[in-house]
Amino acid sequence: MKNLIIANWKMNPSSQAEAKVIFDAIREGVKGINAAASARGFGEPTEVVVCPPAVYLYASVFGEGVVSMGAQNVYFEDKGAFTGEISAEMIKDLGAEYVIIGHSERRKYFGETDEVINKKIIRALEVGLKVIFCIGETQEEHDAGKKNEVLDRQIKLGLASVSDFGFSASNFAVAYEPVWAIGTGNNCGVGETKQTLSYIKSLLTLSGVEGQEVRILYGGSVKSENSGAYIKEAGANGLLVGGASLNAEEFIKILESAE
Ligand code: 13P
Repeated sequence: MKNLIIANWKMNPSSQAEAKVIFDAIREGVKGINAAASARGFGEPTEVVVCPPAVYLYASVFGEGVVSMGAQNVYFEDKGAFTGEISAEMIKDLGAEYVIIGHSERRKYFGETDEVINKKIIRALEVGLKVIFCIGETQEEHDAGKKNEVLDRQIKLGLASVSDFGFSASNFAVAYEPVWAIGTGNNCGVGETKQTLSYIKSLLTLSGVEGQEVRILYGGSVKSENSGAYIKEAGANGLLVGGASLNAEEFIKILESAE
């Protein structure tokens, strides 16, 4: 199974020019890592995806290359009077391969419910986008011992009937992002992450969605000092990186730590 490492730039950077500088540096870094890996002659290279703000997704900014593109959000209707929204078809047409759905910032600031997230996942799969489905508990839920209950609900409702809509292990990944670990510097411990990832795997199996095959990622204050341990010790199949992915040098170190 190839590791999957995703850069979620959120609402950054502020200009196309800056976006291009970061992206070009990431792409060159990835080329270097891939060349070194093929010279060593073993191991599958990590799959790298950059998810910039949707306005930077078009091909003229980023071009073709060794890095795939993804969107950070999508709407579930195919077209029509939905001011401000972007459809799955539009994202796909721009050349993006992936879309992040269910990020905790969408749940918190934009009121996305499990039901809305479910519709978005189904629409994205119907159109042929690959989905990165985010789940995770808040600090309050964590402290109240409700983590498993929350993950249970998010998976059950978020993935309701997705197996009828082209779901497969190759077009779907789950990112466990505890809300309390996002942007706080308080990353989840490796031991707890390991337990949680295997719990998520068991839930996926129960939902009948080939749990053993689906890549499960960790996200939340990932940096080059902690990234390798999530993959090598906690058993994550990849990472979803926020802040650190805006610094190309740091992001490349994160990619190297997964090799
Ligand atoms: P940070 O890496 O900045 O904590 O963000 C994680 C995240 O939300 C990625 O989707």
